Amino acid sequence: MRHFISLNEWNEEEIIHLLQMAEHYRKEQLTLKKQLFAANLFFEPSTRTKMSFAVAERRLGMDVLDFNVEHSSTQKGESLYDTAKTFEAIGANLLVIRHCDDNWIEEIGNHFSLPIINAGAGKKEHPTQCLLDILTIYQEYQQFKGLNIVIAGDISHSRVAKSNAYTLQKLGANVYLTAANGWQDKSLDFPYISIDQAVQISDVLMLLRIQHERHETAYIQKSYLQQFGLTKRREKAMKPHAIVLHPAPVNRNVEIDTDLVECERSRIFKQMNNGVYVRMAIIVKLLQEWGIIDEAIVEKRQQPINYRGVSCS
Ligand code: CP
Repeated sequence: MRHFISLNEWNEEEIIHLLQMAEHYRKEQLTLKKQLFAANLFFEPSTRTKMSFAVAERRLGMDVLDFNVEHSSTQKGESLYDTAKTFEAIGANLLVIRHCDDNWIEEIGNHFSLPIINAGAGKKEHPTQCLLDILTIYQEYQQFKGLNIVIAGDISHSRVAKSNAYTLQKLGANVYLTAANGWQDKSLDFPYISIDQAVQISDVLMLLRIQHERHETAYIQKSYLQQFGLTKRREKAMKPHAIVLHPAPVNRNVEIDTDLVECERSRIFKQMNNGVYVRMAIIVKLLQEWGIIDEAIVEKRQQPINYRGVSCS
C-alpha cells in the first residue's frame, strides 16, 4: 500500500486524477460517513500546510488530533518513530508528518498500518505543495506539455524545487532553474538560466523562499531583489499571459517586490486556496487505497460546515 511521500510514485494519469478530484471537492460538499481520526504531526513550523490539512480533514468530517511539538513528549526525548507509533496505537487513521530530517521517511519505514502523508521532509520533498502548484498551473493552461516553467531562488535548500522539477518534467513541461551562486543544486539535471532570461521565457515563474533556517551561514539579504528577485522592471518583461507562483511565506522585497505579491499575474493566494482541495483529494485517495473507506461512505454533506459561527459552503 502506498503512502503519499513523493510524486515520483504517482504516474501522470494518477496525478491528473488527483487534480480532478480536488476540483470536484471544491464544488461538492462531501463528508465521510465514519468516525476517522487524522493526526497532524508537525515537527517544524507551518501555517499554510498545517492549517489547510486541518481544514481539509474537517471538511471531510474527520476528527483532527492536533499535536503541538512544544507540549509533547518529544520534549522528553521521544523519537518521531515512537511518536508516530503512539498515534497509530491510540487509533489514528491517518498521519500527516512534517520533519526537518531529509530522511525521516526512511526512519518511519514500512512499519505502519495506516497511510502517511509527507507534509515536508527537510530539503528533500514537499509533495502536497507540488500538487497544489500543479493544480494552479492546470487551472491556467489546462495542460503542461511544452510550458516553460522556471523555478527561481534558493534551489539547493528547497524541498519545493525538488518535488516540482521532477513532477513538472514528468508532465511534459520544460523545466529551468535559476539561482544565486552557491544555491544551485548540481544533483538536479535541469538547465540553469539567469533571472533576466527567466522572466522572458517563462509561462510560469515559480519563486522560492530563501530558506534561512537551513543555511549554515547567515545570508545578507541586501540587493538580493535587484540581483535575483522579481522586480517591477522584470515583471514588465514577462509574457502577457505568464503567471507568478511562490509557496510562501514570502520574504517581501527579497524574492519579490512587495507591490507584486498581489499583482494580476500573482497566483500566490490562489495556491493556498488550492491547497485545501488537493489535500482533501490526497486524503480520500489514500483512505480508499488502504481500504479504510470506500466510495459508498463519501456522501454529499447536508449541512454547510460551521467554523465558530461562520458558515462555509
Ligand atoms: N508553503 C508552505 O509549506 O508553507 P508553511 O510552511 O506555512 O506550511
